[in-house]
Amino acid sequence: MQRILGIDIGATGIKGAMVDLQKGELCTERIKYSTPKPATAEAFVPVIKQLITDFNWEGQPIGFGFPAIIKNGTAHSAANIDKSFLGFNLKEYYDAQLGCETFFINDADAAGIAEMEFGKGKDIKDGVVILLTLGTGIGSAVFNDRVLLPNTEFGHLKWKDSIAEKYAANSVRENNDMKWKEWGPRLNEIVKHIEFIFSPDLIILGGGVSKKFDKYKEYLNPSCEITAATLRNNAGIIGAAMGYELLSRKIDLSDAVV
Ligand code: BGC
Repeated sequence: MQRILGIDIGATGIKGAMVDLQKGELCTERIKYSTPKPATAEAFVPVIKQLITDFNWEGQPIGFGFPAIIKNGTAHSAANIDKSFLGFNLKEYYDAQLGCETFFINDADAAGIAEMEFGKGKDIKDGVVILLTLGTGIGSAVFNDRVLLPNTEFGHLKWKDSIAEKYAANSVRENNDMKWKEWGPRLNEIVKHIEFIFSPDLIILGGGVSKKFDKYKEYLNPSCEITAATLRNNAGIIGAAMGYELLSRKIDLSDAVV
């Protein structure tokens, strides 16, 4: 069995688990720590080291999902993390700090590749699939004929004098004690706007609140199919681990989901 440590770094929690890459499943429990505040590169080191100890994974490769635009291991946005991450080479820094090889992919892209390989997308042969992760922010992953268009940022679409994620992320619901009947229609507005622009065949909702899909699905009425992620909130960890494996086989991320 090929196993890898996958770590999903989020604005509120840092979650890790060992992932069975053949089955696309967690093969250990999932361990979660709070994201340090301020959420800087340095502050993440002890938390990640703790996860390495928890899973007895010293010196071995790790795949990370990270809440930013990622190109060649460098972060190019920092919406819900410390601004010092802008232009910061994550791979170089964490390889050195952790003494192992690391791989970084945007957190929503990670969830997307996992869901396409092992979840709702696994039987889809062609067409446009959009996965939205609903958490502190809104992340997005877009697939055309199973090929990922990396680093889309639909949570940052301009919306009512602000941006989509400040209007309809799950954190907005939680922070404002919104009822499902208040938040659901908001999410629907964003979903329908995205549908109008991209004409997807399927929209998958991920993030922690995907397990409560039954509470708000009645408010969502795009004309395409809309469904909750099968892998629920574990998609980010599974995709983070898959990202590492794809890199080590020198396979393009886009080829990987063909
Ligand atoms: C970030 C994205 C990330 C999403 C979900 C957004 O604020 O800009 O890169 O995927 O949050 O964490």
